[in-house]
Amino acid sequence: MVIGATYFHRDLHTMKKLLMPVREILESEGKVRIWSAGCSDGSEPFTIAILISEEFEGIIPDSVEILATDVDPDDAFEKFFETGIYKRERLTRIPDKIRKRYFHEDDKSSENLILNDSLRKKVKFMRHDLLSGISPGGVFDIIICKNVLLHFNDAEQSAITGLFYDTLNNGGYLVTEQTHRLSDKDQNSFARIFPDARIYQKIS
Ligand SMILES: C[S@@+](CC[C@H](N)C(=O)[O-])C[C@H]1O[C@@H](n2cnc3c(N)ncnc32)[C@H](O)[C@@H]1O
Repeated sequence: MVIGATYFHRDLHTMKKLLMPVREILESEGKVRIWSAGCSDGSEPFTIAILISEEFEGIIPDSVEILATDVDPDDAFEKFFETGIYKRERLTRIPDKIRKRYFHEDDKSSENLILNDSLRKKVKFMRHDLLSGISPGGVFDIIICKNVLLHFNDAEQSAITGLFYDTLNNGGYLVTEQTHRLSDKDQNSFARIFPDARIYQKIS
């Protein structure tokens, strides 16, 4: 069932809208914890890392923590977080100016670019099964789970959304892909905050 299709700067419209909550949480709480659930090869968590870095003049504040998790049954994803090596074709949506700031050439292959260590080290990867019912580590302010829930049946989706609810701080945010619709039951737990993006805020 595992499908890993992903790329950098996917659904940029939604991802950029997270910058406002990130700033607000940093100002009010002094730190922000982000979980990219079902992160595949890291394109999604590194996209938010790049956007936050750009928002903060090229350096992600130390007070921003990004955890990326995937069930990764074929042991295929961890290496991206260890090496930062990506095929150029996965990076075409990143504007040249920004791509040059965060990636460098791979001496061994002209087909690849390598993510700079400073950004790569900002995202921690962990193998985690969303059906386990347990948090990959504490509570979070923002959970990004895009293009993952559609692969599960209604009962599984409900269990995973329940896990997200329990794993979010009060007032925390859940982000899904544009086409995902929360169940009627889940709409009592989360309020959609933008008409043009699937960003939901936890209702306490
Ligand atoms: C289509 S990719 C989405 C990648 C990224 N979130 C995006 O939107 O670009 C779906 C990902 O969900 C992961 N996945 C599937 N079942 C999972 C599970 N039970 N727990 C955690 N991740 C899972 C897959 O391994 C795959 O990497």
